[in-house]
Amino acid sequence: MSDQSTGPSSTEQTISNLLKEERRFEPPADLAASANVTADAYDAAAADREAFWAEQADRLTWATKWDQVLDDSNPPFFKWFTGGTLNASYNCVDRHVEAGRGDKVAIHWVGEPITGGADDTRDITYAQLKDEVSQAANALTALGVSKGDRVAIYLPMIPEAIVAMLACARLGAPHTVVFGGFSADALASRVDDCEAKVVITSDGGYRRGTPSALKPAVDEARTKTDKIEKVLVVRRTGQEVAWDDAVDVWWHDAVGSASTDHTPEAFDAEHPLYVMYTSGTTGKPKGILHTTGGYLTGAAYTHHAVFDLKPETDVYWCTADVGWVTGHSYIAYGPLANGVTQVLYEGTPDSPEPGRWWKIIQDYGVTLFYTAPTAIRSFMKQGSEVPDSFDMSSLRILGSVGEPINPEAYVWYRHVIGGDRTPVVDTWWQTETGAVMISPLPGVTAGKPGSAMTPIPGIEADVVDDEGRSVPNGSGGYLVVTSPWPSMLRTLWGDDDRYVDTYWSRFKKQGFYFAGDGAKKDEDGDIWVLGRVDDVMNVSGHRLSTTEIESALVSHPKVAESAVVGATDPDTGQAVVAYVILRNEAGDGGPDIIKELSDHVRSQIGPIAKPRQIMIVPELPKTRSGKIMRRLLRDVAEGRTVGDTQTLADASIMDLISAGQATST
Ligand code: WT7
Repeated sequence: MSDQSTGPSSTEQTISNLLKEERRFEPPADLAASANVTADAYDAAAADREAFWAEQADRLTWATKWDQVLDDSNPPFFKWFTGGTLNASYNCVDRHVEAGRGDKVAIHWVGEPITGGADDTRDITYAQLKDEVSQAANALTALGVSKGDRVAIYLPMIPEAIVAMLACARLGAPHTVVFGGFSADALASRVDDCEAKVVITSDGGYRRGTPSALKPAVDEARTKTDKIEKVLVVRRTGQEVAWDDAVDVWWHDAVGSASTDHTPEAFDAEHPLYVMYTSGTTGKPKGILHTTGGYLTGAAYTHHAVFDLKPETDVYWCTADVGWVTGHSYIAYGPLANGVTQVLYEGTPDSPEPGRWWKIIQDYGVTLFYTAPTAIRSFMKQGSEVPDSFDMSSLRILGSVGEPINPEAYVWYRHVIGGDRTPVVDTWWQTETGAVMISPLPGVTAGKPGSAMTPIPGIEADVVDDEGRSVPNGSGGYLVVTSPWPSMLRTLWGDDDRYVDTYWSRFKKQGFYFAGDGAKKDEDGDIWVLGRVDDVMNVSGHRLSTTEIESALVSHPKVAESAVVGATDPDTGQAVVAYVILRNEAGDGGPDIIKELSDHVRSQIGPIAKPRQIMIVPELPKTRSGKIMRRLLRDVAEGRTVGDTQTLADASIMDLISAGQATST
């Protein structure tokens, strides 16, 4: 474990708290009686994994059936459903229309503004979605996009985001969706890395009642990368935008005037579907590559199994942003491949009123709800009065994703939002895994608050020690996946070596996938995910790299050196705390130095990376070999007594830093 790993004190504390958890929640009898997946699925999948996955792949419509389920001839470059061909967009849209479900609502879109009683909403049927996706595919073709070209999508939570993704998939043009909260720099570096020739954006989107601009960031990104040939702009807010006739094209012109006829081509199962950038342990984000057949199989199967999806009656809502993998697998691909009706909401949970989410659940009769612990904790703080004033009796399953859900938040979620009827599925997975890996099954598992429980049928995962040996029940170690799975990442875009290094070198001998998380098996063998064991932080369920933020800080002219740690935070899970040494010539940095540095991180990466606290320090604690001991800095940031300083080159430094902490604001 590196220094960033959960330090012994806090890990031990967490574990002992967790082991006291004795509450159990059995599945409701009616849900269990009609569950999509029953207990025997675990054994069936284990007995013949390939047959099991072939059955799951049959949920999709293939143009050509595969020859081989798993090609493991060149590990860790696994291939799934080789020889098979299909089109992801066809699977998410056309086939539902062909099956006579064209009039079914695919998306209940809810815009954030509520203006004069006339809500900003739109219902989109599968037939309409098919037309729009076809139009967008035709428009992209006219802009020069063809099979294999990359397209960046930088949009708010509006239907066009889904349409754009599906249009790219339809053309076999891998998309890379960049979260709208990322800065121009972050956008430019992603566009540059995967050489995206078209960017799809909008003038802006609504955030807490005010229009927030997006197009200017794309304009700025164009000054930092020369890869962008065309920018397709959705008009959402009506804000003023700068316009370059040679590059900018309005969506309503190009897409609006395009034909609604488009014949999707079938692509190889291993054809790239998308690249999703995520933070790693170095400054450079990793481009996680997902391909078509295995990914879509994983997304569709898990959505069916983990949410016990009944497409004829369920109304599903996942509150994630399409800029993250959750929005890819559990808004765009899984749910639409399964033909659901889902809610898509543009804005913030409490805008314009604190009960906005609960009102949406009530208005649309949402039955399956999927959100993140950070949101649950922030609602918990406000109390139950607001949610109690809405009728949420339609809900039947609640999901959680992104970070460990603390038992109190789990119980509150189940009780206040779920009326004590609904199972809570705590789903562990990652951008890399493409789909849920460890989770209760709502009709099978007796839920334990705080535990993600066991790998779902078809998935094999374990907790192992340093040598890769399975730890006994009651012990902790590293979370690994012990055999390949269809929705696994295939590589990192343009960097096979880093792919092998990051995920497959730690337990090379065993051939295990190293997830980067620490975990514990309890006495029953159920898994409790404890958090990252590498230099990756989890802030409000968003993944941030300490190194990336450090690089951003060091790129400021007044900064000589910096160290960033993720400190436990009651609201956001972890929060960014930065220690900064200023350059000599910067003196004390001036009166606004903290704000200056904070704004700088914001502009380099985005608001999500903004430190909760920045401390100007004279020195950083380093080992004799010059390695920063982040563990000690985390002790300070979390207000603990500073741990063992024996390996420090100069132990007095920690006294200076701790003293500074007492007076810093
Ligand atoms: C990391 C992956 C999965 C989509 C959203 C985040 C943490 C995720 C859980 C959970 C405990 C969790 C892990 C993981 N994580 N879900 N249910 N319990 N930890 O995707 O940005 O790729 O982050 O999020 O640390 O490694 P991501």
